[in-house]
Amino acid sequence: MKNQTVLILDFGGQYKELIARRVRECKVYSIVKPGDITVAEIKDIDPIGIILTGGPSSVYKEDSPHCDKEIFSLGIPVLGICYGTQLLAWSVGGKVEPCAVSEYGKTKMTVSPKCDLYKGMDKEQIGLMSHTDQITVLPEGFVSVASTKDCKNASIADKKRKLYGMQFHPEVESTPNGTKFIKNFLYEICGAKGDYNLKNLEGQLIEQIRNQVGDNHVLLALSGGVDSSVCAALLSKAIPGRLHCVFVDHGLMRKDEGDQIEEAFKDKDIDFIRVNAKDRFLKALKGVVDPEQKRKIIGAMFIEAFKIERDKLSDVKFLAQGTIYPDVIESGGSKAATIKSHHNVGGLPEDLGFTGLVEPLRGLFKDEVRKLGRQLGLSKEYVDRQPFPGPGLGVRVMGEITDEKLDILKDADAIFREIMIKNRIKSDQYFAVLTDTRSVGVVGDFRTYEYTVALRAVKTSDFMTCEYTPIPHKFLGLAASRIVNEVEGVGRVVYDITGKPPATIEWE
Ligand code: XMP
Repeated sequence: MKNQTVLILDFGGQYKELIARRVRECKVYSIVKPGDITVAEIKDIDPIGIILTGGPSSVYKEDSPHCDKEIFSLGIPVLGICYGTQLLAWSVGGKVEPCAVSEYGKTKMTVSPKCDLYKGMDKEQIGLMSHTDQITVLPEGFVSVASTKDCKNASIADKKRKLYGMQFHPEVESTPNGTKFIKNFLYEICGAKGDYNLKNLEGQLIEQIRNQVGDNHVLLALSGGVDSSVCAALLSKAIPGRLHCVFVDHGLMRKDEGDQIEEAFKDKDIDFIRVNAKDRFLKALKGVVDPEQKRKIIGAMFIEAFKIERDKLSDVKFLAQGTIYPDVIESGGSKAATIKSHHNVGGLPEDLGFTGLVEPLRGLFKDEVRKLGRQLGLSKEYVDRQPFPGPGLGVRVMGEITDEKLDILKDADAIFREIMIKNRIKSDQYFAVLTDTRSVGVVGDFRTYEYTVALRAVKTSDFMTCEYTPIPHKFLGLAASRIVNEVEGVGRVVYDITGKPPATIEWE
């Protein structure tokens, strides 16, 4: 059974994922495609509506991204957002020009509740504006359905042709009723039925997996992260007894994490293979201090360990991966995405001899993956874990990685995490780093010369930029005193207050 789908066309805006998620929150399936998609491809997707995203360009400039104008006469409802609304107006005969006064930030607007987009809503609304161009002449058939002090066409509509536009961003939280506007577009204009939900989705995914795999066996490289874990839980339900999970424990996981991963899967009907490879990894990393080299060695060692297990299971035909939708969107050629490509280290090589790839989570966002994981019986603590880099603590122990340094970091990190959780300090990612710097201290009458631990906690929504989390000083003080008292080898604790950019979240 196919879900109704809304097609989101990307014109380089940073909020395309957010738009797709908002649509799904309204119980309608959504996918993102490049703005230059062909009409034939659109017909193939058969969407109930099309949304054009924002973007940094000016529609009247020659190198700006455009779409096939036929899109506007297919009879499929269209909603343009920011640049998308200018593109819509410009494509059907309107005029777009630089603003006399550019608008940025939360802006008061007056909307027309007579328009289906704003049905049932108050006239006075707030919209997040961020534009330097605006529609100065409406295309034929269009009326203005919202205005601000400086922008008379803040939202436009041609009810007959089902073409709509919003100069502001309905997808962000700064537009308080934005999701309601999107919902109106979906339900009042596109005829959405609300047929997308995770309960149905689980059944659909299981059916797809069974159709694809038949009687064959599947091998999954389980990193222990949320995505591969949920993938394992789903596959174990779809093809019980025919899933082999290889968990390469490189010794660079957080304290006790390897055991927690094993524990999470003990009741599932899978062949769980834990490879204890810490000694091999540490041997290969001996004497290596360069961060990039460390990353490369860890990636290569991982593949080597996986290959050894793969050779033992040579009749397994399918490889499963926990690829999720943001990975798919990011590798779809958008300029904004390449920033993180270096993180996809350790991608499995092609010469492993599989005949098929199973990626059941390819269409899901992280929050959906987490909910699906809960539905499949993984615990809340397990699916809510923070992101953890592929090279693990290897990029949090500065300089050479040794057993001793790893133990120090694991203990310090566990204390810091315990304090953050117990005191309910909200932060999107937090961890300890073991710097390669020692400093002089005094304990009793003795001089000490021990390691410095750095604490890092950040606020971020996309992990591409961040600010530090303002942890109250009393908790920072508590973390410092507990770490120096309880962890042998640490003489000093500092807190990293750098944003990204210019720093990155990880230290290496
Ligand atoms: P940076 O350090 O680039 O990190 O600001 C951004 C986010 O990505 C995570 N990260 C990684 N994730 N493999 C991964 O899967 C990696 O090699 C890797 N390096 C960094 C980091 O923890 C943060 O959430």
